[in-house]
Amino acid sequence: MIVIKKGTWQRNLKGITADLVFTSPPYNIGSKAARKDGYRAAGKFDPKSYGGITGYADNLPEEKYQAEQVAFLNRCATVLSDDGVVVYNHKPRRKGGRMIHPMSWIGQCEQLELMEEVVWDRGSTHNHCPQLMWPTTERLYVLKKAGGRYPLRSHSGMEFRSDVWRIPLTTRPHGGHACPFALKLASAVIEAWSSPGDLVCDPYTGSGTTAIAAKELGRDFYGIEKSAKYHAIAKERVAV
Ligand SMILES: C[S@@+](CC[C@H](N)C(=O)[O-])C[C@H]1O[C@@H](n2cnc3c(N)ncnc32)[C@H](O)[C@@H]1O
Repeated sequence: MIVIKKGTWQRNLKGITADLVFTSPPYNIGSKAARKDGYRAAGKFDPKSYGGITGYADNLPEEKYQAEQVAFLNRCATVLSDDGVVVYNHKPRRKGGRMIHPMSWIGQCEQLELMEEVVWDRGSTHNHCPQLMWPTTERLYVLKKAGGRYPLRSHSGMEFRSDVWRIPLTTRPHGGHACPFALKLASAVIEAWSSPGDLVCDPYTGSGTTAIAAKELGRDFYGIEKSAKYHAIAKERVAV
């Protein structure tokens, strides 16, 4: 069964038992931020992709953002099965030149324990700062319930047996979303940390990439998406 709710995780992430939560929140990098390096003028990137999310500012005060993410992760723990895991996609970001690392808030989450950090080498970036290395990797933080079991259930062969996954995201796979997962990434995560028939949840569903992979791999899916536009795209892509 595939369910995609329109609304927020704050209201809708309850009343389920998920075996795997695989998700990526907005990165709080400000969708209205101006480019400084001439890439937009040179037409070398899609301006909508800068800052990721479109439709709202994605620009909370950083402290508030981090507190919200700790609350989010702790909420995920309340809907996890006893041996379920959260695979939380994020990346080191820059604000005012300073690097902000996701462990700043993941480490504050008391309900979950960090088991793995997988580097996703996506081979592309939205961030082309002339003074810095261009960051082409993101991270998958794999967390289990505090005190619970950690099940690495299976994996998609040797390609995804190490903690560096090379899955290029060099073109937009579809028109609607600025920062989707690669479908291959969602499939590899679902195969590694769930079994057929399990319930996979993505509380920041976006364009529904996790839902498509879950459906293809015979898992149930429960998703939540705040934006009406992305919610419609997700439902159309997964055909529910
Ligand atoms: C990084 S994107 C996820 C992209 C997704 N992985 C995909 O493959 O398309 C984060 C999504 O979370 C949504 N969102 C933001 N705040 C939310 C909230 N409080 N509850 C649910 N969805 C939210 C945004 O509209 C955005 O589509």
